[in-house]
Amino acid sequence: MKAVAVYPGKPDSMHLVEVPMPSLDDVPDGRGVLVKVLRVGVDGTDREIAAGRYGQAPPGSDFLITGHENFGQVVQVGPNVPSTIRLGGYVVATVRRPGHSLYDQIGMQDMTTDDQYYERGINLRHGYLAEYSVEDAAYVVPLPATLREVGVLLEPLTVAEKGLRQAFEIQRRLRIWQPRRAAVLGSGTIGLLAALALRLRGLDVVCVSLPLPPCLNSELIEALGGRYVSTRESSLAEVNVRFGSCDLIFEATGYSPLVFQAAEVLAKNGVLVLASVTGGDTKAEVNADHLNQGFVLGNKVMVGTVNAAREDFIQGVDDLIKAEALFPGWLARLLTTPIQGLDNYAEMLRQLTENHEAIKVYVQVA
Ligand code: BGC
Ligand code: ZN
Repeated sequence: MKAVAVYPGKPDSMHLVEVPMPSLDDVPDGRGVLVKVLRVGVDGTDREIAAGRYGQAPPGSDFLITGHENFGQVVQVGPNVPSTIRLGGYVVATVRRPGHSLYDQIGMQDMTTDDQYYERGINLRHGYLAEYSVEDAAYVVPLPATLREVGVLLEPLTVAEKGLRQAFEIQRRLRIWQPRRAAVLGSGTIGLLAALALRLRGLDVVCVSLPLPPCLNSELIEALGGRYVSTRESSLAEVNVRFGSCDLIFEATGYSPLVFQAAEVLAKNGVLVLASVTGGDTKAEVNADHLNQGFVLGNKVMVGTVNAAREDFIQGVDDLIKAEALFPGWLARLLTTPIQGLDNYAEMLRQLTENHEAIKVYVQVA
């Protein structure tokens, strides 16, 4: 079968490869699920991999099949696959596979303390930009057919879901935490999906992001009943004065200096969730005393989050269903930039790196 691969560490090395069809026998104990890949989304992580700055090939291979935002249809199952995963059903696979730490051993590989992590399409494991994939049922999550058109958004949504789960889990320390106002920094796919998840949990949301409104990003936030502010017009401190301070701030801009500004304006007892993987070496000057004192006197928390657990995928499916009911058509508006077929990987990369208006670039594989 055909697949899209890179030579990790080598910039501009994306190419088509011919690889053997995966088979149920690749998975132990009859738990294999063979999936016809339908759609694969791409994001900043794929951009970094394509630029040769991130990612590693699986042991014994000199290339890495890319793509982690997967969505497909089950074509074959092993004898020990649970009945919730049916032939013809739609599925999404989680991204990270267990390594060696205690967390990995109890199914919490999203919290691994290992230095090396195994992520399909990213690090040491082949991904999904291919005609077929095979997966252990333990990592496969079923979706209802009503999510056929938007299911490719599940994986990016889970990144937001995990971040929010961490925030709510941590805030149980407060016994009666009832967050009212949230800020989402950034209006890319993760920012928009975080705003959605927060609206579904009943919070007032202000999204602070670079593009000047009106634009698709601002319209999407407003369609959720949220407010949108461009950082070209207002600083975070001004937003804080205008809308009041936020109990929860979700950072998804990729611009790390904003973290420290967000920490300064966070409400007392608030939680700041950091979700941007920033590979550069940007420096920032911070109001160290002010920031530190605010955290101490305000009992504030800052938490980093990466990847997602199976439970975040399950919660994500619920939220996608809710989103379709409460904001019909909203999710589909994120799917701005379809690419037809694996052969067009060069166009996919071009859209991913040059089209700044695109929200989600994805490949229609089949
Ligand atoms: C993926 C996560 C992954 C992270 C770091 C993100 O793009 O969605 O699953 O953990 O990159 O590699
Ligand atoms: Zn991703």
